Amino acid sequence: TKKRRILIISNRLPITVKEENGTFDVRPSAGGLVAGLRGIHQNDNDDTWWIGHGGVFGDDPFTRLRRELEPRKLVPVPIDQTTYDGYYNGMANNVIWPQFHYFPSMMHYQPRNWEAFEQANRAFADTALEVAKPGDWIWVHDYQLMLVPQMLRERAPNLRISYFHHIPFPSSEIFRTLPNRVALLRGLLGADLIGFHTYDYVRHFISSAVRLLGKDVYLDEITHGDRMVKVGAFPLGVDCESINAVCEELDHLAPPQQPFQELNAPLVMLGIDRLDYTKGIPERLEAFGRFLRKNPDYIGKAVLVQLCVPSRQKIPSYGELRARVERLVGQLNGEFGKPGYTPIHYLYQSFSQKDVVALYRKAQIALVTPLRDGLNLVCKEFVAAHTDEDGVVILSELAGAATEMGEALSVNPFDVEDMAAAMLRAATMEPAERQSRMRGLRKRILEFDNYVWCQTFLDSWANITETRADKS
Ligand code: G6P
Repeated sequence: TKKRRILIISNRLPITVKEENGTFDVRPSAGGLVAGLRGIHQNDNDDTWWIGHGGVFGDDPFTRLRRELEPRKLVPVPIDQTTYDGYYNGMANNVIWPQFHYFPSMMHYQPRNWEAFEQANRAFADTALEVAKPGDWIWVHDYQLMLVPQMLRERAPNLRISYFHHIPFPSSEIFRTLPNRVALLRGLLGADLIGFHTYDYVRHFISSAVRLLGKDVYLDEITHGDRMVKVGAFPLGVDCESINAVCEELDHLAPPQQPFQELNAPLVMLGIDRLDYTKGIPERLEAFGRFLRKNPDYIGKAVLVQLCVPSRQKIPSYGELRARVERLVGQLNGEFGKPGYTPIHYLYQSFSQKDVVALYRKAQIALVTPLRDGLNLVCKEFVAAHTDEDGVVILSELAGAATEMGEALSVNPFDVEDMAAAMLRAATMEPAERQSRMRGLRKRILEFDNYVWCQTFLDSWANITETRADKS
């Protein structure tokens, strides 16, 4: 049978390119979206293309990049630097991101950035239309591109278009405070199917459509002009296959070749996050300090490895957060450290997948305590990497993944005391309980991996398209 041709459209390609003196420096991109979709793009079941911004500006390097990426089924979108800044830093990450994560005080709205946002969304839609062939499945991803579904629909009413939202969709009371709320909603309604990670986000989206646009809704269907738009919850999974392959590789390494040999404290807790204010890193560090202060037996024994992946460095609040985190790390290490013992190992860098998996396996406790998170894949990756079927996940109840991970120790990430208590509980948990919780988590996470996620989403999308074909 003929393969389905899928066009993924997202702000970022799975690689980020930097041009320096005519040569391209190519690195893998960070973040949950890319982690979830990378394998789907590479896998051969479908003919999958990926349209996104490559990170390169200027006509000549852009044309070269486009040619170079073509054989890898990657298509870069041309946008000039000023427009890109207004769209990405100004609107997507200074307005939509903070607001959708319930940080209204972090929102900095400037009307000209909205224009840049429209222009950049138009550039993504244009590139998609240039590449699209009849019968293609056009799958738009994430908050940076909320206008794209509608822009595509206007120009090509018969296209198959869907959208998946990787971050929270906030309560309609928060959503309604956005200056461009109606345009954003209409933008999404250009799709046939709109997917979210959780039912809460679905509910919030529906309330917004009802309250702000007066839409008619029946169960999971919104009437929009002469079309029906479906909404649904599809929590993303992790690429267990590739994590497992790394685990096997690590299992076969002789001890001296194992990464992080030096890390041999009796108790290792681990946090891995992009350095972002939504991730609750300062609160987590405070909680670890509280844990040591209240349970001094662990001083000298327990360490926290906190890997912060650099992110959105042009935005001032990210720089301020970095300073705050680094000050706290310094304070706590000053307070509890001694020669030969550093309680917090703070790393500000990007790690390879192999190193990340090795870290997961070195840690007995994962600290996943975002103040708000669309889903969070770190907690799922930790579980997938624990082939020893042991280890404890401490998980924020404000992460989307909390709805699927009942066996984790759930915490309120704003409550430092609660988190310190969970650390003690995890540290003293009986092995039998730890293992039974971990097995429960593993069963679900290995079963619902990112391929199953993708298949489920595509099946529901295919159903809509078929029903429509029956009717016409
Ligand atoms: C989150 C978003 C993604 C984004 C990633 C990394 O996971 O949902 O769309 O790509 O963060 O952020 P960045 O701004 O570096 O792309």
